[in-house]
Amino acid sequence: MYNSKISGLGFYVPDNIVTNDDLSKMMDTNDAWIQERTGIKERRWIKEGSEDTSAVMGVKAARIAIERAGLEPKDIDFIVFATLSPDLYFPGCGVQIQDMLDMNTVGALDVRNQCSGFVYALSTADQFIKTGMYKNVLVIGSEFHSGGLDKTDRGRGVTVIFGDGAGAAVLSREEDNAKGVLSTHLHSEGKFAGELIVKSPSIMHWVPQLIEENNKVDPDYYPYMNGQLVFKNAIVRFEEVINEGLSKNNLSATDIDLFIPHQANLRISQFVQRRFKLRDDQVFNNIMTHGNTTAASIPIALTQAWEQGKIKKGDLVVLAAFGSGFTWGSAIIRW
Ligand code: UT7
Repeated sequence: MYNSKISGLGFYVPDNIVTNDDLSKMMDTNDAWIQERTGIKERRWIKEGSEDTSAVMGVKAARIAIERAGLEPKDIDFIVFATLSPDLYFPGCGVQIQDMLDMNTVGALDVRNQCSGFVYALSTADQFIKTGMYKNVLVIGSEFHSGGLDKTDRGRGVTVIFGDGAGAAVLSREEDNAKGVLSTHLHSEGKFAGELIVKSPSIMHWVPQLIEENNKVDPDYYPYMNGQLVFKNAIVRFEEVINEGLSKNNLSATDIDLFIPHQANLRISQFVQRRFKLRDDQVFNNIMTHGNTTAASIPIALTQAWEQGKIKKGDLVVLAAFGSGFTWGSAIIRW
């Protein structure tokens, strides 16, 4: 059995910055409310007419990650792409990456686990490397949220939170079992599926019906979120799944060098930080400037933390996420 290590990281976000004040011109909201409840000051939204999509942003992030890994696209053995905002209903974005990067005809898998998508994707890639089946796996989290948000007053409880962007990691074979991804931990609780959901389009409201009934004011086409229930479950599950990872590796909270939470809400990250008694410099947040980028949030934050020199060789890095499904997970990494 091998381990996998992160050999390259990259991210891409659109240039277009949307501030809270910009949003208050579209809907009944304000900077004070958004900052107080979420910590968000601004986010990136793809500008209308831009070439960017989830797949296109994913490619941009992937090119950087592959280059930093010292590899070429042709060295990649497998692609795992996590998103809740795929370019197409099908096929998934993974095959678009294979094509756009002119890669060999490697397998491409799409992961549909929303905010936990990157942790699920990382775990999947890790298993393929652990068994020896693949040497280098490209993992991407990318989201084009802004195209599917309700930008009227009705959507304000959800829309102000989300941002667009992509992050990518290359996982490569590591012979030393004390290094790299030590373990990953995945969970779900589908009884809460309806609490954070986009209902349409779905196979239940398929094309003929869509054509007849397509109605821009139908709320089913926009995300619904029971924010308080999600918040309450998130803080419990974050703590549980981090503890699960630490105890699996006979580690404790004092061993954590850097915690990178999925950027759901700054208040959630701060709550978890307090539970594990971590200092500010032991937690990396970027929700203030990027909003919640769902499957992209951890790989963007991880790349930025690495670029800023916040991750050193030998550090224990903990990733954790919670979101729609509900799904949640953690990854314990020895850098
Ligand atoms: O990453 C995926 C997982 N998602 C999460 O983890 C999100 C978890 N939940 C949250 O982050 C919070 O629940 C929110 C930030 C989404 C909402 O904060 P909240 O403190 O739970 O607010 P609320 O939904 O209870 O709304 C409080 C008030 C309401 O007004 P009334 O009924 O008290 O008069 C809302 O209508 O705030 C109002 N409101 C807003 N006001 C200004 C809701 N959204 C807005 C807004 N601007 N954008």
